[in-house]
Amino acid sequence: MGLNYYQIKKNVRKARKLVIKATSNAGSGHPGGSFSMAEIMGCIFFKHLRFDPKNPQWDQRDKLILSKGHASPGLFSNMALAGYFDASELDTLRQFGSRLQGHPDLKCPGVEFCGGSLGIGLSFSIGSALAARLDGKQTRIYTVMGDGETDEGQVWEAAMSASKYKVDNLTAILDRNFIQQDSYTEKVMPLDEELVGDDLSEMWKDASRWKVGDKWRSFGWNVIEIDGHRIEQVDSAIKKAAQTKGAPSIIIARTIKGKGVEHMEDNPKWHGQAPKKEFVPIIEMELDSQSMIAPSIIAGDMTNLENEVKRCVAGRADYIHLDVMDGEFVPNKTFDHTKIKELRPLTVIPFDTHLMINNPVRHVRDYVDAGSDIVTVHAEVCDAASFGEICDILSANQVGVGLAINPDTDLPEWSKQFIPRLDQIIVMSVVPGRSGQKYIESTHEKMHRLNQILSEHRFDGCIEADGGVTLDNIGACFVDGARAFVGGSAIIGQQDVRGIIREFRHKIAHARRKMLIQKAFDLGGKDLVAKWIDLHIIGEKKNLISQIAKELGYV
Ligand code: DX5
Ligand code: ZN
Repeated sequence: MGLNYYQIKKNVRKARKLVIKATSNAGSGHPGGSFSMAEIMGCIFFKHLRFDPKNPQWDQRDKLILSKGHASPGLFSNMALAGYFDASELDTLRQFGSRLQGHPDLKCPGVEFCGGSLGIGLSFSIGSALAARLDGKQTRIYTVMGDGETDEGQVWEAAMSASKYKVDNLTAILDRNFIQQDSYTEKVMPLDEELVGDDLSEMWKDASRWKVGDKWRSFGWNVIEIDGHRIEQVDSAIKKAAQTKGAPSIIIARTIKGKGVEHMEDNPKWHGQAPKKEFVPIIEMELDSQSMIAPSIIAGDMTNLENEVKRCVAGRADYIHLDVMDGEFVPNKTFDHTKIKELRPLTVIPFDTHLMINNPVRHVRDYVDAGSDIVTVHAEVCDAASFGEICDILSANQVGVGLAINPDTDLPEWSKQFIPRLDQIIVMSVVPGRSGQKYIESTHEKMHRLNQILSEHRFDGCIEADGGVTLDNIGACFVDGARAFVGGSAIIGQQDVRGIIREFRHKIAHARRKMLIQKAFDLGGKDLVAKWIDLHIIGEKKNLISQIAKELGYV
């Protein structure tokens, strides 16, 4: 299908919501493992897998084998988004007679493997890969395995065979979420190192203790280790695996079970339990409110932007915000596409290119070629014709489409027809031109008006707050509806980029928890607030959430 990064992200969010809806409706199912593999599945389905939902048996198709079949809601939700069936069919999950069972079944067109009896998906995949090779087909096999199921001896027999027969048209992906049915993998059957205490977080933080990659390497596999919730890393790993000849590849994707819903994260209880219906609207709101941090490198050393990019990488930024200024649209000049092209090989983190230039339609192709993941142009220098052309160029190249407005600009009339196509809107909260200015307070008010217009026009993208965002106002920007946050002087201007990004994330988490508690209260008063708090049992979360509820007067 070849969607851009932002569209894949959007589908991942939608798929997670479908999983919640389907499992809560069924009253049972496996949300935890569906969520740990959500980005993996989104990236396979909407970027790499060759398939035809109208012709599921197309003989040149690739095959996705879900070996960890219990995570079937995570498969079905993506199949629905991909067009195999209508999303409403997910309401029949696990019902007698439904095509969508608790474990995938071949009676559902598009399902390639009856997964769920764990430990056999890899053997089946190797057979399929060898058959495709014999038939001279281009078919690639993607096999998603759970970490718990690799306790099975059959997995390691399969690993040996794949290596002996040089099965290089197979990409295995290990969803390494550290949790299996009853407990943490390192307690049940250590893959890395035996977990003696209860503190899984220690294991998590210390990558030097992760050994499972060595096991696969010793079996002759090409091993690629990534953060399985970073779409750009999943994408790049899948590409690398496909380029590797003469050996099978496995992507070890470090993930979090239940990722995306705070109370489910890292909690073995959510391996196989459905959320209660009363929580569904709150969880949906939580899934819709994920946030991204985008440091702006012009706030750093302009003579060494390479180093600024490296600081963003070390700081675990979500995006890298690239402010292009031409000395005409704004008085300053920064850099152009040639610099972006030079920076591109340094990281796979998405490049969030913000063009503060005149006549963007003339230059947009250069910024596509330079490797931008999204290009945002200013409404002040576009009209319907030129912006339409920009949208077409970006879409044809799988690059995200962004529109920016200055503090004194309202969304122009001509732009409204494009709103459903936008991946991002940048709302400038300083007069563009340089970093280090003060946030213009009236932006908050403007955001309220803007939200109204955006929802009327079916906006499905992300609002990015840009200019003067700090630790003091990021919470308010979140409440305004922004979900991506540019940080120039407040992030790149600081010594410890990683530390400050972490603080930014804490502030956002606080604002988000507050919003969710408010939602719980609106839906079910103090009673539901208390139940919501009680769901949060792992780590510090419960105390933090109780504290917020207390401040709001809801406990
Ligand atoms: C302003 C740019 C912003 C700016 C952000 O013209 O678009 O991205 O550099 O820097 P701070 O966060 O310092 O305002
Ligand atoms: Zn910017």
